[in-house]
Amino acid sequence: MSTLPDPITAKGPIGVFDSGYGGLTILRQIRQLLPQYDYIYLGDNARAPYGGHSFEVIYRYTLEAVEALFSHGCHLVILACNTASAKALKTIQEVDLARLDPSRRVLGVIRPTVEAVCHLTLSRHIGVLATAGTINSESYTLEIKKTAPDITVTGQACPMWVPLVENDEFDSPGADYFVKKRIDGILRLDPAIDTLVLGCTHYPLLMNKIVKYTPPGVRIVPQGEYVAAALGNYLERHPDMAERCSKGGKCHYLTTENPQKFHDNATLFMHQPVEVEQIEL
Ligand code: DGL
Repeated sequence: MSTLPDPITAKGPIGVFDSGYGGLTILRQIRQLLPQYDYIYLGDNARAPYGGHSFEVIYRYTLEAVEALFSHGCHLVILACNTASAKALKTIQEVDLARLDPSRRVLGVIRPTVEAVCHLTLSRHIGVLATAGTINSESYTLEIKKTAPDITVTGQACPMWVPLVENDEFDSPGADYFVKKRIDGILRLDPAIDTLVLGCTHYPLLMNKIVKYTPPGVRIVPQGEYVAAALGNYLERHPDMAERCSKGGKCHYLTTENPQKFHDNATLFMHQPVEVEQIEL
């Protein structure tokens, strides 16, 4: 990457990346809390879902997305995708940033979610609903155990949930079937669960169905609020980075798929018209 903007002189938007539409649930909360900044959202819709891919593929796709956001001027990128955070974040932070530009930063969504969720459970039994990639990585279990070793963590992969969202089926009878199946499944594995983490940023887009099939007394925890708070906190602790993020309240959207389709869906999710550009990674 020889064309990165000068990090010292050129301010840039905050980059928010997801495999598809899911990161919009994070972006919405971030913009509510930090409306003063500019943002660029990138959805790799052409290659979503990531959840069933191998480590190598998820890492390569995520790195390409981070490089694209850097070349659009971002100094700070949020991986608003648990699968990418679980599989690619550590290597990008520890290996790639040194090569690309050590002054830029990439942050994930798992750590802020875990920090919040450990305080929410009374039964000390947490369930994590996520993609196969995130569940198989054991990232949530390892992070929760580091924070609170007494908590029992049960994971459940929900491989059909992201395709339902990406294909506009989040309100269909198919969504009822697959959402019920996985919620029943995780509560059968551990009936003491009182806190269900939505460990995939797409899942809040299925919230109507999730609420419908979750028994009262089990708290459903989407991550947006906690990721937004963690970002606000990060920018307060790193005024040099806050200074390098441009402030104009604007948001631009990039997708690797058809921009019209992205426009229609994102306008629906964000409750406001969005400006979209198609890019190749
Ligand atoms: N929103 C992504 C996540 O949080 C979905 C990954 C996928 O594309 O399967 O994991």
